[in-house]
Amino acid sequence: MSKKLYIETLGCAMNVRDSEHIIAELNRDEEYVLSDDPSQADLIIINTCSVREKPVSKLFSEIGVFNKKKKEGARIGVCGCSASHLGGEIFKRAPEVDFVLGARNVSKITQAIKTPKYLSVDIDYDESSYAFAEFRNSVYKAFVNISIGCDKKCTYCIVPNTRGDEISIPAELIIKEARRAAQNGAKEIFLLGQNVNNYGKRFSQENHSKMDFSDLLREVSEIPEVQRIRFTSPHPLHMDDKFLQEFASNPKICKSMHMPLQSGSTRLLEKMKRGYTKEWFLDRALKLREMVPDASISTDIIVGFPGESDEDFEDTLDVMKRVRFEQIFSFKYSPRPLTKAAEFTNQVDPAIASQRLTLLQDEQEKILDEISKKHTDKVYEVYFEEKRSNGLIAGRSDNNALVQVQGDESCLGKIKSVKITNPKRLSLYGDILD
Ligand code: 5AD
Ligand code: SF4
Repeated sequence: MSKKLYIETLGCAMNVRDSEHIIAELNRDEEYVLSDDPSQADLIIINTCSVREKPVSKLFSEIGVFNKKKKEGARIGVCGCSASHLGGEIFKRAPEVDFVLGARNVSKITQAIKTPKYLSVDIDYDESSYAFAEFRNSVYKAFVNISIGCDKKCTYCIVPNTRGDEISIPAELIIKEARRAAQNGAKEIFLLGQNVNNYGKRFSQENHSKMDFSDLLREVSEIPEVQRIRFTSPHPLHMDDKFLQEFASNPKICKSMHMPLQSGSTRLLEKMKRGYTKEWFLDRALKLREMVPDASISTDIIVGFPGESDEDFEDTLDVMKRVRFEQIFSFKYSPRPLTKAAEFTNQVDPAIASQRLTLLQDEQEKILDEISKKHTDKVYEVYFEEKRSNGLIAGRSDNNALVQVQGDESCLGKIKSVKITNPKRLSLYGDILD
C-alpha cells in the first residue's frame, strides 16, 4: 500500500519547484502519494524559507504542532533555506525532527528518509542531481530552473548563504525539460532563477553551448508547443537593451516584468550593494513603459534598511510615483544572520519602519485604484487555469492580471480573449469574447 506524504512549502517559486522535485522522487522511488492531512501522513516535510526572521521562528512552533498531530511512527523532515542555514542546530532545538536537507540538497531525499538523523546541507552542485523525476502541481504551466544560487552579495540577503554560488544549468537541459513539459500540455513555461538575466555567466562544466538570457528566451520560444514564457526574478542591473528588446519583441514572452527596486535612494542602494542607482532604475523602467505600454511592472521594496533617513524613504516614494508599479511586495527590513547589514550599527527604529511601510502601502493603494480603472473595456488574452470556489473560472492575462469570468471547465487550459467589464484592485472581472 502506498504511503502518504504531507508537504508544506514556504517562500519563493524556487521552493515550490524544489517541493515538486521532492514529491516526484518520493513517488517514483518510494511510492509516496500526496495527502493534505498531516495527521494521516507517514512523512511530514516542511520546505522552509529564511529570507526574513518571521518564517524561521514560525518553523519551530510548526514542528511542535506537527509533532502533536502526527500519527504513531510518522517522520518529520525539514528542507530548504532554513535547513541550509541552521543545519544540525535544528536537531538540537527540535529533537523530533528526523532529517534536515538544505536547499541545494533535495536530490538526497530518498536517502534522507531512510537514515536516522540524516543531515545534508553542503552547497555542492552536480548536474545529475537536476535530473529529477517528473511531478508538477499544475498541468497548465511548468516551472523550469535555469540557474541555482546567487552571486550577488546584497548586504541584507541570506540567500547566497543558503543556495550558494550562482551556476547556470546547461541550455540543452533547459530546452529538453521545457519541450517535454509543453508537449505534455503546459502551454506556459516559467523560467526560474535568483537572477535570471545574469544567465550564462558560469556553468559547472565547460563543454556546454554558451548563451545569455536573451538567447535562451529566444530558444525556448522556438519550441512550437510553448505559447507563453514567464520568468522570475530578473535583476535591474542586468536589464540591458538587448534584454529589453527581446522582451518587447518576442510575442511569446508575457508582458509582465518583475523589477526588484529594494530602495529608491542611490545612497542606500550602494549600502545594499545593489549595483545600480535610482537614475538607472528609472531609466530602465520608463524605457520599458515606452517600449511596451501595456506591460505590467511589479517590484519588491524593503523599508527600514539600516541608516534609512526620511530623504531616502522619499526617494523610494518618488520612484513609486513615477513608475506606478502594478504590484508591490513590500517588507520591513529584517536583520538576517550571516549578512553584512545585520552588523550595521545604524539600525532603524522598528516603529519608524512600520510607519513607513504603512505610508508606502497606502500610497500604492491610491495608485492601484487609478490603474485598475484603466482596464475597463480592455481586451486581454487570458490563460485559464483554475475553477474558483466562487464558481468563476480564473486565469492570468498576458500582463499577469488575475482575470475571472463566468465559464465552465472546458475553458481550463485554453487561452481566450476576455473583455474587462468590472476591474477591481486585485482581480479583473469580464466576459469571454469567443
Ligand atoms: N529583510 C526584509 N526583506 C528582505 N528581502 C530579502 N532579504 C530581506 C531582509 N533581510 C526581500 C527582498 C527580496 C524579497 C524576496 O525579499 O525585497 O527581493
Ligand atoms: Fe526562496 Fe530566498 Fe526564501 Fe530561500 S530564502 S526560499 S531562496 S525567498
